[in-house]
Amino acid sequence: MLLDGKRVLITGVLTDDSIAWHTARVAQEQGADVVLTGFGRGMRLTERSSQRLPNPADVLELDINDPDDMLAVASELEARWGGLDGAVHAIAFAPEDALGGNFLNTPAESAQTAFTTSAFSFKTLAVGLLPLFQAAGQGSLVTLDFDNRQAWPVYDWMGVAKAALESVTRYLARDLGRYRVRVNAVSAGPLTTVAARSIPGFAAFESVWADRAPLVWDASNPEPVAKMICVLLSDWAPATTGEIVHVDGGFHAIAAAGGPTQT
Ligand SMILES: NC(=O)c1ccc[n+]([C@@H]2O[C@H](COP(=O)([O-])OP(=O)(O)OC[C@H]3O[C@@H](n4cnc5c(N)ncnc54)[C@H](O)[C@@H]3O)[C@@H](O)[C@H]2O)c1
Repeated sequence: MLLDGKRVLITGVLTDDSIAWHTARVAQEQGADVVLTGFGRGMRLTERSSQRLPNPADVLELDINDPDDMLAVASELEARWGGLDGAVHAIAFAPEDALGGNFLNTPAESAQTAFTTSAFSFKTLAVGLLPLFQAAGQGSLVTLDFDNRQAWPVYDWMGVAKAALESVTRYLARDLGRYRVRVNAVSAGPLTTVAARSIPGFAAFESVWADRAPLVWDASNPEPVAKMICVLLSDWAPATTGEIVHVDGGFHAIAAAGGPTQT
């Protein structure tokens, strides 16, 4: 199996719609030993979602902006496993006034919150877990991106945060390569999760994808994204780092809807 014997930490499970939940499921199906993290008022939901995995996983508390939580997670994993083979960063948050077409009026604090929780947090996780990867002699970190080379409707400061996250991915790849830690991002097409539903006007993305993606895109199925994350966590991507892999039905490659009118 792809992840036989791998010890993997997965953040960002809220419901069983979460991309991270599907990642945990596929990782377990592929032989990984998984621990989840949950956050704040969502902890209970995470614990309930964990019960629906093939093997209910332990849930550790991690507010990525709380240094004590990060230290506690690292020391719990140290005691449990002694090292770590992979970690998934599936964390994003932007205040309401940083989304939804309010770009010109967003206060700096809201843009900063989006940046800190959605982009800087990947560095926080990487540095917090580095001693465990060093103990393992190597590792793989994967984050979740949404393509942001162009401006979108409504995505606003989250788009700016995702641009920063791509850059953070490259700098982490630069600095962690010496420890044989690979750092990559999966750029997913739109999926109807709690985070997505909190973005006003998100449905517009689904219809644009239906028109333009050359492969059929099912916004209710995170499994293709989960599978790619598991490939990047595995030994089958040993020389890939600083990369952004699109799992979006090919949408990013196509400039406008339309194509051959006959086959
Ligand atoms: N749903 C999509 O269309 C889509 C597309 C591309 C990328 N993504 C990205 O995938 C990732 C996972 O999102 P999702 O769509 O599965 O939604 P989700 O709502 O299930 O997950 C978002 C997670 O972020 C966590 N989180 C927020 N603030 C946190 C904090 N301070 N500390 C720790 N955790 C915190 C939440 O607890 C939640 O588990 C996000 O980075 C999101 O931007 C989503």
